Amino acid sequence: MNSVLSKAYGKAAWGLPLQGSDVAVAWDALYWFLFWLSVFFFVLVVGGMIYFAIAYRKQPGKKTKYIVDHHALEALWTIIPTILLMAIFGWGWAVYKKQVNAPTDAMEIRVIGKQWLWTFQYDDGRTEASKLVVPLGKPIKLVMTSQDVLHSFFIPNFRVKQDVVPGMYTSVWFEPKVAGEHQVFCTEYCGTTHSGMLAKVEVLEPAQYELWKANKPYQVTGVKTPSSDLLAAAQSSARLANAHLPLPEQGAKLVAAKGCTACHSIDGTAKIGPSYKGIFGHEQELLDGSKVVVDENYIRESIMKPQAKVVKGFNPVMPPYTKDMIGEEDMNAIVAYIKSLN
Ligand code: CUA
Repeated sequence: MNSVLSKAYGKAAWGLPLQGSDVAVAWDALYWFLFWLSVFFFVLVVGGMIYFAIAYRKQPGKKTKYIVDHHALEALWTIIPTILLMAIFGWGWAVYKKQVNAPTDAMEIRVIGKQWLWTFQYDDGRTEASKLVVPLGKPIKLVMTSQDVLHSFFIPNFRVKQDVVPGMYTSVWFEPKVAGEHQVFCTEYCGTTHSGMLAKVEVLEPAQYELWKANKPYQVTGVKTPSSDLLAAAQSSARLANAHLPLPEQGAKLVAAKGCTACHSIDGTAKIGPSYKGIFGHEQELLDGSKVVVDENYIRESIMKPQAKVVKGFNPVMPPYTKDMIGEEDMNAIVAYIKSLN
């Protein structure tokens, strides 16, 4: 199916943005199906209305007879819409499933929204503002959070949009199919400069991506969308941190500096708190007997509200950390570190 769909990549049709990911092609197909279905029923209903208004208009001496019952007709207008609606549901469900389940080999990049800027944190320790750099044709998973208020991360060309919420992680994934520059918008009103909360995605050819990774000059080839001032506004992108340490190693340093290692080991031995080793992605039993899978959100909660979900066999003695003690960048590094201990 992908090879058939891939023909459409990069095209912008009927005022829609260009299709920069395979999920974009899939959503557009559903969109146009709904559109033409609506057109069909509009013509049918309004056309019928006009026809009947004329055919059965008031005429002297003519009385239209009442239709009391017509079981076949009633069955038909129940069954056909049911089939149509179920088909639309099934189709939408299939595309939605594809959109929410990132492949396990997806490259993870962390996104932090703050008034009014997008920050991107890469595994190798770099942090950039307003510029998301990704290789062409590789699945990318964005793990996103906000430092202040609700934002929403939207890449029209990829047809992905996801709320970015303070206090938790949300994620979205895509596979960029078209090299070049793609616009990013904030699409949740977040204050005065909401409309200026822009960024761009640079989808690079593999060779150029390697250059970028090596901190060498590189070129963005391909589309420029939109080619206007919007992108220019996002050109103010800047390298915020060019840490020499990969993200997990930054996390290791933080964990030591914040005193976490006094109670948490990394070799599997239980100290005052559970060990970090091998917990990410695995189930933990809690004090009340319920179970939880250790993911980004669980780790964050266990740092900010340690008493919320205490692992069975341990005492609820950990002091909570606040936003001022551990910022979003640091939190991402700590999560990356714990993840790396698997
Ligand atoms: Cu951030 Cu609107």
